[in-house]
Amino acid sequence: MDDLINELIKSATEALKKSYSPYSKFKVGAAILTKNNKIFTGANVENASYSLTICAERVAGVKAISSGESKFKYIAIATNRNEIAFPCGACLQFLIEFSQNLKVILVKTEKKYKIFDLKELLPKNFTL
Ligand code: THU
Repeated sequence: MDDLINELIKSATEALKKSYSPYSKFKVGAAILTKNNKIFTGANVENASYSLTICAERVAGVKAISSGESKFKYIAIATNRNEIAFPCGACLQFLIEFSQNLKVILVKTEKKYKIFDLKELLPKNFTL
């Protein structure tokens, strides 16, 4: 598992290079490890009409789900600030739809990171 986590952290760090963020200059990369041990990556994609911006976590999630992988074990999130960044509320809600027991790895550097349970970041969540 440690090898997979290291690979996931590398993938998130690599993914942030593809961020399209000319407005905020805040680059985010996300990498999701699915139940079948497949990795899907995403980066944030901004728009001149700011509210159309899509976060890295949701880009990675949509790629995974539309490829037939909708059970997630881990997500790693990296930014270009060398600081951990917590996912926004919209992304937490998006992720909990698919994985109640997801573990969220917040990357500071490739060797320094923190792991949280998604439920601890969004303890009271909306489900139908
Ligand atoms: N952003 C993400 O990609 N993920 C988050 O969870 C929070 C924010 C992006 C959106 C925007 O492009 C930039 O970070 C600044 O808000």
